[in-house]
Amino acid sequence: MSSARVIAARTIAALVDNKGSLSSHLEKHRAHPEFQLIQEYCYGCCRWFFLLQFFVECLLKKPLKDKDADLLGLLIIGLYQLRQMRTPDHAAINETVEAAIQLKKPWAKALINAVLRNYLRQQQDLEAQLAKQSEAVRHSHPAWLVSALKQQWPGEFDALLLANNQRPPMTLRVNLGRLSRDSYAETLVEAGVKFSVGQLAESAIYLDQPLDISELPGFESGLVSVQDEASQLVAALLDLKPEQRVLDACAAPGGKLCHILESEHSLTGAVAIDLNATRLERVNENLNRLQLDAVVKQADSGDLQSWWDGKPFDRILLDAPCSATGVIRRHPDIKLLRSNAAITKLQQQQLQLLDSLWPCLAGGGRLLYTTCSVLNEENSEVIDRFLANHGDAKYEGVTADWGVECSYGRQLLPLEQIGPDGFFYSLLRKR
Ligand SMILES: C[S@@+](CC[C@H](N)C(=O)[O-])C[C@H]1O[C@@H](n2cnc3c(N)ncnc32)[C@H](O)[C@@H]1O
Repeated sequence: MSSARVIAARTIAALVDNKGSLSSHLEKHRAHPEFQLIQEYCYGCCRWFFLLQFFVECLLKKPLKDKDADLLGLLIIGLYQLRQMRTPDHAAINETVEAAIQLKKPWAKALINAVLRNYLRQQQDLEAQLAKQSEAVRHSHPAWLVSALKQQWPGEFDALLLANNQRPPMTLRVNLGRLSRDSYAETLVEAGVKFSVGQLAESAIYLDQPLDISELPGFESGLVSVQDEASQLVAALLDLKPEQRVLDACAAPGGKLCHILESEHSLTGAVAIDLNATRLERVNENLNRLQLDAVVKQADSGDLQSWWDGKPFDRILLDAPCSATGVIRRHPDIKLLRSNAAITKLQQQQLQLLDSLWPCLAGGGRLLYTTCSVLNEENSEVIDRFLANHGDAKYEGVTADWGVECSYGRQLLPLEQIGPDGFFYSLLRKR
């Protein structure tokens, strides 16, 4: 069995090569006895990748070849341990050096040894050099994202960079159809779990420390789900009424769908579509656990012929595929995986989905467009372009006492550790 370090080094190499996502790679190693350590290495190294890569570049005489991205991964892990973890120096160095053998690159042992020992010797000088680098390097972000954030969020820019590097809170959604937040809070007090309540969503509770769901009181019986507070604001914005027909066009893993169904028990029906079969399994698991009902279909929701029965929907949620730049603290691999070109492609995809789904909406019906992006190109700009081509669409505005009002929606930014993710909401009505 490969060691935690070797698995993490290979995972980082795959991400550097833009293959897969961190969560998809980690999924394969759930049964590993050191899974938690693999997670710690991978999350930490993605979070601090651009900063640690700067040190690697300073310490290597010549750059590593592309085929040696696993060694880059190993060096980043070694530096992460030396700089940010409490591992004794000699253990971090010895284990990283030995891992080169498992990677079948014993020739690299001397190189790894030299880089890590030189880091320790030159640490003060290297930190001083780091302080003179760009904001992107100092805050460990890709340069393209730093310039976009600086341009689009000048006032919040510093706080955004800091927040993106924090560990995310674990947030719960209390099933208010079954019990009040206060009642569930009492259960947590009895179980000795420390928490605070959310300020924006009446169902939200922030745990002081993450807990395994198996230890979460009432999870299996559906009293509570794990969901960020920003996502818990979606159902209320849909302004659901009995007898309505609802479409969740990008539904997996089903967090918002289940909240919609928890919030309004008398819908005529709910249809949940997603392209990804594996993620749809999670939708069914969530529906079963919460004893809720929806028609779940695997399809491209933009391809109406493949799934739509022609009956219009009163409400549509389009929680669109996006850059996920609002949830970097939860998915730090986003920093390695996204690029400016990817944002342009995503915008096209988002517009296409909106265009295709619009005919499914009943006259007078509402479509809520959401993303977990903080970039204007995927948010107000998409709605602006959509409205220019759809005379029967009216922007409704999102009236709320939270977030930042944008030209075509409302934006939450991830600024505080105990606070919501970055999220965008825009409400459209069909005339
Ligand atoms: C932001 S996630 C949705 C999260 C979900 N609404 C929730 O609250 O749990 C976006 C989803 O869109 C799906 N997706 C992307 N393109 C799609 C398409 N053309 N048709 C249907 N689903 C799509 C992805 O598989 C992914 O599950």
